[in-house]
Amino acid sequence: MDVNNKLYPLLLCAIIAGCNGGKDTDPKDPKDPPPTKDEQLSALIKQNGLTGNPMTGKTLPDINDPIAALGKRLFFSKSLSGNRDTACVTCHHPQLGGGDNLSLPIGVDAVVSDLLGPGRAHDSKAHGYDGGPTVPRNAPTTFNIAAWNTFLFHDGRLERLQDDGIRTPDTPFNQGDPLAGSNLTHAQARFPVTSPEEMKGFAHEDKDNTQIRQFLSERLGGYGSGVGVLPNTAYWLDHFRTAFNQPAASAEALITEQNISFAIGEYQRSQVFTASPWQQYVQGNNAALSTSAKRGALLFFTSEKEGGVGCSACHSGDSFTDEGFHNIAIPQFGRGKGDGDGSEDFGRFRETGDDADKFAFRTPGLLNVEVTGPWGHSGAYTTLEGIVRHHLQPYDAVSNYNSGQLSQAGVQNLDKLQSNTQAALNHSNFALPNLNYTEQEVTDLVNFLKALTDTCTKDATCLAPWILDETDDPDPNGDQLSPLGL
Ligand code: HEC
Ligand code: HEC
Repeated sequence: MDVNNKLYPLLLCAIIAGCNGGKDTDPKDPKDPPPTKDEQLSALIKQNGLTGNPMTGKTLPDINDPIAALGKRLFFSKSLSGNRDTACVTCHHPQLGGGDNLSLPIGVDAVVSDLLGPGRAHDSKAHGYDGGPTVPRNAPTTFNIAAWNTFLFHDGRLERLQDDGIRTPDTPFNQGDPLAGSNLTHAQARFPVTSPEEMKGFAHEDKDNTQIRQFLSERLGGYGSGVGVLPNTAYWLDHFRTAFNQPAASAEALITEQNISFAIGEYQRSQVFTASPWQQYVQGNNAALSTSAKRGALLFFTSEKEGGVGCSACHSGDSFTDEGFHNIAIPQFGRGKGDGDGSEDFGRFRETGDDADKFAFRTPGLLNVEVTGPWGHSGAYTTLEGIVRHHLQPYDAVSNYNSGQLSQAGVQNLDKLQSNTQAALNHSNFALPNLNYTEQEVTDLVNFLKALTDTCTKDATCLAPWILDETDDPDPNGDQLSPLGL
């Protein structure tokens, strides 16, 4: 795969604007100087319609907007979990790339509830669990969440429909949810509180989704039955009144499940981190990328046929996703979603029932991918090199997969990893080619991926506006999550 040699004629064509019209220049004329990497990339950037800004045309809140600020408070609050031991931030901390730095998450019933990242363990063997991770899929980043236009979740079970609003897990496939709210992120925020493993816990199993949301709203607002109400509800009423600028409104009117999830959504939608070297490069600064990253970019955006590795066939556009679903046979382990023999996860098939969607998962966006590991829907790969090699030679990567790389104990069904993953490799929709590659090419691709990082995501000071300051009117109920080990 030598992009420089094979791509020449084609790229020259693109650069010299129209090989049909440009009769005065023969693209194969040996006297023409070869295009530089910057010229080749500039042609590809144009061809792919890239601007470097995935948020064009979107109206997004600032983190200092009052509702986003309230959302941050809620995002960090354990009051939203059944047993007051888990918050959204447990699995989506800004200093952990908007995720949890675990292959598979642990929500409720952790040994130490405020310990995030590697070392977090599940305490209880109750409820049929085994001490291993309780959530079957990797926690995606919340960074740049507003870039998604159509699908949230690995299997897209939250979906913007053509003309019927937003479908959520509360409504059948293809049917809009009247309570979905104003945007995908708002709609999503209504669901983690309904998941027993993530936040709901097991003391509220009798409550359906509507009831648990109502219970939590009443808990924060101090109204309704009075069961489970927080000792200090003035704290929340004050913050809701300020955020919504309704100083005299009642808790019942303001602290509703819709307002809670809207505010949490606004906080997440303010997490825009796109100022990467790649953005600078696309916007004209040729010095923003290293030579190796440029070689990686050429491989990434050039199809296999033309001498590249064709990543942009799926990772397309300014947020590097086609929002499509593909089976790329990421090693499968963990407790599974109950598919097949129970240990499997059929991905998009679970929603559509279409055999062509079996084992297919949503193409992740790649902005800030350097900080959002482990990678893949099961968190199978703990290095960027690993996930890149998987894409290049999936068969080898799966047969040689080393689960020793996982940074957590108790991961289930490792004994079924080979057979469950081979089933995906053997399925007719398996989507990746088997390419020969050099070590240099892996390094170049990784350097390109690292050029998609906004340095703010690696800098605690820069991230501070998105992190709830323990001294900023701390929750008198003691439910504000103060992460240990960060
Ligand atoms: C125990 C860990 C855990 C907790 C707690 C948790 N999440 Fe998540 N989150 C996940 C996992 C795992 C997924 C992916 C699930 C799937 O795709 O099936 C996810 C998905 C998401 C997504 C969709 C991301 C995408 O790219 O599609 C958003 C947004 C999100 N969570 C926000 C929240 C909010 C808001 C809360 C609190 C109300 C929360 N999460 C609580 C683990 C967690
Ligand atoms: C056929 C479509 C397709 C192609 C081509 C493709 N990818 Fe992917 N990629 C995916 C899908 C789908 C996933 C998620 C799969 C899963 O979780 O099961 C993914 C996951 C990833 C991830 C992990 C992201 C995360 O947040 O977990 C990285 C990194 C990545 N791809 C990079 C690349 C690179 C580099 C190339 C080119 C060598 C490439 N991809 C080519 C579809 C594709």
